[in-house]
Amino acid sequence: MLQLRAARIDELEKLTELCLQSKALSGYDDAFMRGCREMLRFRPSDMEKTSICVAEADSTLLGAAQLYFEDEIAFLQRLFVSPDKTKHGIGKALFGWSLKAAHRAGAKRLLIDCDPAAAGFFQRMGAREEGIVDSGTVPGYRTPRFKVTLSPCRSPSEK
Ligand SMILES: CC(C)(COP(=O)(O)OP(=O)(O)OC[C@H]1O[C@@H](n2cnc3c(N)ncnc32)[C@H](O)[C@@H]1OP(=O)(O)O)[C@@H](O)C(=O)NCCC(=O)NCCS
Repeated sequence: MLQLRAARIDELEKLTELCLQSKALSGYDDAFMRGCREMLRFRPSDMEKTSICVAEADSTLLGAAQLYFEDEIAFLQRLFVSPDKTKHGIGKALFGWSLKAAHRAGAKRLLIDCDPAAAGFFQRMGAREEGIVDSGTVPGYRTPRFKVTLSPCRSPSEK
């Protein structure tokens, strides 16, 4: 059964490999993947600066999502699924976690700069395309930006 839980520091290396394998799904060449490698690496400092949720089944890591918060914005830095486990609802479950975690943290917006190949997924998840931005990974590589507006948290008296 699929479970979502916080990432542990001892699995960051595995998550980096999984993230690279997942990114390679979009058919990038070796040179591009080498250029991405450092940007896609999970670091111990990510454990303090960001929230990372992993999806696992039978003690096997199947995907992860990572959120970074700045002011009232939650950035979905990464969302990826093991290449042999896509189209099984894992991305949707991780996206659901991202929305809840962003909402709980008091964010008003969730922003997603995604791989062009994943644009259809985020559309399907109800996000709205906002434009195209520099990816910050490989020079000249631009990616679609999606946005979800989050409804404000209600105070206990309103519930
Ligand atoms: C994009 C990604 C996260 C989707 O995860 P997934 O587990 O395959 O998605 P799900 O099975 O939860 O799909 C949920 C819905 O989105 C649809 N969907 C999934 N990927 C899609 C795509 N690339 N384009 C259009 N629709 C897509 C599914 O068909 C499903 O639709 P349904 O609700 O009608 O059944 C996954 O394919 C992935 O990791 N890709 C490589 C890395 C990547 O590009 N990550 C994006 C962050 S930049």
